[in-house]
Amino acid sequence: MSVEEFLPQEYSESVKNGSFKWQSPSNIALVKYWGKKPKQIPANPSVSFTLDHCKTLTRLDFQKKNSGEDFEFEVFFEGRKKDDFKPKINTFFKRIESYCPFLKDYSFKIYSENTFPHSSGIASSASGMSALALCMMSLEKELNPEMSEGFFNRKASFLARLGSGSACRSIKGEMVVWGEHENIKGSSDLYGIVYPDEVHEIFRNYQDTILLVDKGKKEVSSSVGHDLMHGHPFADVRFKQAETNLTNLKPVFAEGNLEEFIKIVENEALSLHAMMMSSMPYFILMKPNTLKIINKIWDFRRETSLPVCFTLDAGANVHVLYPEKNKNEIFEFIKNELVACCENGQYICDQLGSGAKQLSMEN
Ligand code: PMV
Repeated sequence: MSVEEFLPQEYSESVKNGSFKWQSPSNIALVKYWGKKPKQIPANPSVSFTLDHCKTLTRLDFQKKNSGEDFEFEVFFEGRKKDDFKPKINTFFKRIESYCPFLKDYSFKIYSENTFPHSSGIASSASGMSALALCMMSLEKELNPEMSEGFFNRKASFLARLGSGSACRSIKGEMVVWGEHENIKGSSDLYGIVYPDEVHEIFRNYQDTILLVDKGKKEVSSSVGHDLMHGHPFADVRFKQAETNLTNLKPVFAEGNLEEFIKIVENEALSLHAMMMSSMPYFILMKPNTLKIINKIWDFRRETSLPVCFTLDAGANVHVLYPEKNKNEIFEFIKNELVACCENGQYICDQLGSGAKQLSMEN
C-alpha cells in the first residue's frame, strides 16, 4: 500500500459551507510505539485497545473563500479561543495538504472539548487529531460522494497519523494494529487496521481504570521521546522486542491466555520506561506513587490470582487492565488500595470501545 492511494483526483462536487461533528476516543497501547522514521512512520508495529469514555468532541465549521497562501482557521477549546493550539494544527495542515488539496479553499472554525478532565496528564493528541481528521474526511466525502466507507476510515487513520502517530489507532475499535507486521494481514505503516484475527471473549468490555498519579503536563513531549530513540544504544533490540511481543500476543488474543497477556503487557510498559531511563538525556517518567501502585498490583495478584495488570504511557499515570467478569473484586481493590496514590484521589473508569462516531449537529 502506498501514499498515492490518498492523493485525490478531481472532486466531482463543490461545497460552499457547512459543519461536521465527530467524537473520537483515546487509545491505550499494549505493544508500544516509541521511535519513528521520517513522515511519521513507526519504527515498530504497535497494538492498542480503543477506549470508550475518554474522547474528544470536535466540530468543524467551514466556509468557502478565495484560495490564498495560508491556511485560515480559528481554534476554540472548551469554549475559549485557543491560539496556542494553532501551531500544532498548522503543522498538521501542512503535512496533509497534498492529500486534502481543498484546505486553502476554506476558512475553518474548530471547536473541541474533551470528556476527560483537562490537565489530567492524559494525552489528548490521539483523540483530538483523529476527531479533526474525521471532520476533514467528512468534508472530503461531500466533495467526492463516491468514496467508500472503507476508504473513508483508512484515509481518516492515515491523516490522523500525520497529526500524531498514535491517533491513527483511534478511528475504529476495539483493538487496532498500526505498523507492518509479517504475521498480521493488512497491517500497514501508513494507517491503523482493526486487529484482524481471532479475539477471545474474555477481552470483551475489558476494563481500564486510569489512575491519575500526576496530572501535570508531560515532562517530556512524545516527539522529544521518539527522537531520543535515534542513536539509542538499545533501539534496534527494542524494535525487535516489540515485534516479538506482538507475534506472541496473537495466540494470547485468540485463546484468552491472561497469564501470558499480563506478562507481555507489563513487559511492554516497563520497556518503554526503560528506554527513557537509558536514553541521553535520560528521564524517569514514573513518580513514587506509580511504583507504589505497581507493587500493590503485584501483591494483590499474587495473593488473589486475579488477572489484573498495568500498563503505562509516557508519563506517571497507571492504566489498570482487567476483564469485565472480575470487575467487582478488582474495582473494590482499586478503590481501597490504589486511589489513595492518585493526585486528589482522581481516576477514570474506562473500557474497550468501538471507535469514533459522527454526531448530529444538534448534539
Ligand atoms: O502518538 P505519539 O507521538 O504521542 O506517541 C505515543 C507514544 C505512546 O503513547 C507512549 C505509546 C503508544 O503507542 O501510544
